[in-house]
Amino acid sequence: MAVFEHASWICGSLHSEDGCPVFRKGFSVLKPLSKAFLSMSALGVYLPTLNGGQVGDQVMAPGWTSYDHRIQYQTYEVTDLIGRDNTLSVIVAKGWYASPMPGWVDTPDKKRRASRHTGLIAELEILYADGTEETLVSDASWLVAGSPLRFAEIYDGEVYDASFESEDWRPALVFDGPTRLLVPQEGEDICETERVAAKEIIHTPAGERVVDFGQEVTGYVEFSLVGRKGETVTLQCGEVLDREGNFYHGNYRSAKAELVYVCKDGPQTFHPILTFYGFRYVKLSGFPDGCVPSQFTAIVVCSLLRQTGRLSSGIPELNQLFSNVFWGQKGNFLDVPTDCPQRDERLGWTGDAQVFCKTATYNFDTERFFKKWLKDLALDQRPNGAVGQVIPDYLPDGEPSAAWGDAATVCPWQVYQSYGCVDVLKDQFESMRSWVDFITHTTTRKNLWTGGTHFGDWLGLDAPEGSYKGSSRDDFIASAYYAHSTELVVKAGHVLGKDVSSYEKLLLDVVRTFRETYPTYLTETEHVLALQFGLTEHPKETADALAGMIQKDGEAMRTGFVGTGYLLHVLGTYGHGDLAYTLLLRKEYPSWLYPIGKGATTIWEHWDGIKSDGSFWSDKMNSFNHYAYGSVLDWVYEYAAGIGHEENAPAFSSAVIEPHPDKRLQWLDVELQTRNGVIHSAWRCQGDNVRYTITVDMPARIIIKGKAINVRKGTYTFWS
Ligand code: BGC
Repeated sequence: MAVFEHASWICGSLHSEDGCPVFRKGFSVLKPLSKAFLSMSALGVYLPTLNGGQVGDQVMAPGWTSYDHRIQYQTYEVTDLIGRDNTLSVIVAKGWYASPMPGWVDTPDKKRRASRHTGLIAELEILYADGTEETLVSDASWLVAGSPLRFAEIYDGEVYDASFESEDWRPALVFDGPTRLLVPQEGEDICETERVAAKEIIHTPAGERVVDFGQEVTGYVEFSLVGRKGETVTLQCGEVLDREGNFYHGNYRSAKAELVYVCKDGPQTFHPILTFYGFRYVKLSGFPDGCVPSQFTAIVVCSLLRQTGRLSSGIPELNQLFSNVFWGQKGNFLDVPTDCPQRDERLGWTGDAQVFCKTATYNFDTERFFKKWLKDLALDQRPNGAVGQVIPDYLPDGEPSAAWGDAATVCPWQVYQSYGCVDVLKDQFESMRSWVDFITHTTTRKNLWTGGTHFGDWLGLDAPEGSYKGSSRDDFIASAYYAHSTELVVKAGHVLGKDVSSYEKLLLDVVRTFRETYPTYLTETEHVLALQFGLTEHPKETADALAGMIQKDGEAMRTGFVGTGYLLHVLGTYGHGDLAYTLLLRKEYPSWLYPIGKGATTIWEHWDGIKSDGSFWSDKMNSFNHYAYGSVLDWVYEYAAGIGHEENAPAFSSAVIEPHPDKRLQWLDVELQTRNGVIHSAWRCQGDNVRYTITVDMPARIIIKGKAINVRKGTYTFWS
């Protein structure tokens, strides 16, 4: 019997409402129990308890998918929670399903989503010791009432009244819900993964009390207090303090990101339950005097990912950068790879995911995570093959942009490269191919991608005054990515044994036309793309010209979202490793380490989110937890530590280790846990010599200063 075959969708109201209903079902178990399993899903997000105990350890279930196509359900073993007389309670809130997302648009699609009512579906399967079984399903016999969670959504946070008693119990309403869209959970569990103790409570010049956790995280704050029924406390989230040291919330834009908590009598401990926030600081209002840090803990909420990469070096600021990239990933890998976790976005921006994907696959095991998201990307792909700006596509009218839509090809290929899973290519091939076909059919000039509306080299420092877009030409970027995506379709086709001859021909045509059309490159990013995608016929010259531009700019880069991730790679590959290190280690703006000097604990959206005089970039767009520029870490893994694999050996089944030491770093120690075992690459500069220690679990080619030796599993030491 299919799960939920006899279950009904139930709700508290057939209209959208701010309050979050709680559903209740009592049942008795009169015979010895063998096992019991609860399967559940919601239109919205749900939190189930059985006899007061939390069911499972997931939060924000059922997670975020392209809900018009599929909704995940979870199955929990609940044997240990069941007694003779039982009460199952479930609170349901809007979550990603019915919150008014994105914050800044007012489209019919947003209205449609935000006006939906929530709902619940459940099935409890009870297996008795005598071999019989019983199934209990959600239906009109369940009761529903208002819950203490008076309000909950993604951007604004929660209002929770601990003194509220659910009294108005009435039969739940049955409605015709999308049972056919239910699928077993495909993504990682979303869990409370870490706890970060508050560091201090700051009394700001403006007279605010602000808790500092010392680390920007995504999740929520747990707090304890002694209160009196009806007293209200408010916690509002912030990422940084302003120049004067006051609480700052302007960059959250329309997202209130707060918790309003109404006390009951006595000592009490609470944390939000069906929302999340991005924050380092929390402003307290209404709290009793004399608060101490031990009353506050930040709980990190994230997809449960196994860390697979570890990096450390002789430079503390660089180690902080490493840490910031990991925290940026933890803060934005909450079921969907998001741009940021705080303001009124928190969306699966495809461009951001595309540029960060490689680093992400090294830092953590993200195979399941990306596979799930990529399936949604394919499901949300428009009939003409266009890929939206965000996935799940909450901007369905948004024009497909080059380097954003290319997530369709870049991410599956990277997941395959990192983990060797052919199935991701199988599952995504149609999606990859149809993205390229979309370009072929939409361009205004054959064999290039011209026309359309693009984000360009987003946030490039060579942007004309007043623009977010760097100066690289849209058509140039779009055509370069057209070539790249076509090449990835060809490569994926070869792995899958498909006939991709038409794409092979297309690739030749695009590359030829590109070369004819763009004999010169105008910006750093244009040079970078021509090198990275093999479009220049004179790579050495192009790289020299790029290095010259950077040097002329005082050894500072001017690339944006599109160019930055590849910049150090192409410099390193074509003889400018020194300059690449200079950029990595630069401390003045613009650089990766400038924010570190300003106290950053995650990667910033702008190199100068906080300017040298302490003022901010405009409130309109200034996230302090935006992982895109964190993509620099894949250069540290691949070039500095030299960890790679032979071309046809995905998942590092046959490794190539070619470290590139630099004295300025003193030492570097990098470990990567691959599907084929561990790779550990460490080097240390001692005087004019370098000592390398390399451990591999697989066959490998180790290259030191151009000299290669083939090795088997083991640890190897070299001097040069
Ligand atoms: C997001 C970005 C995103 C961009 C599109 C922004 O508002 O935060 O990270 O890629 O829009 O250009």
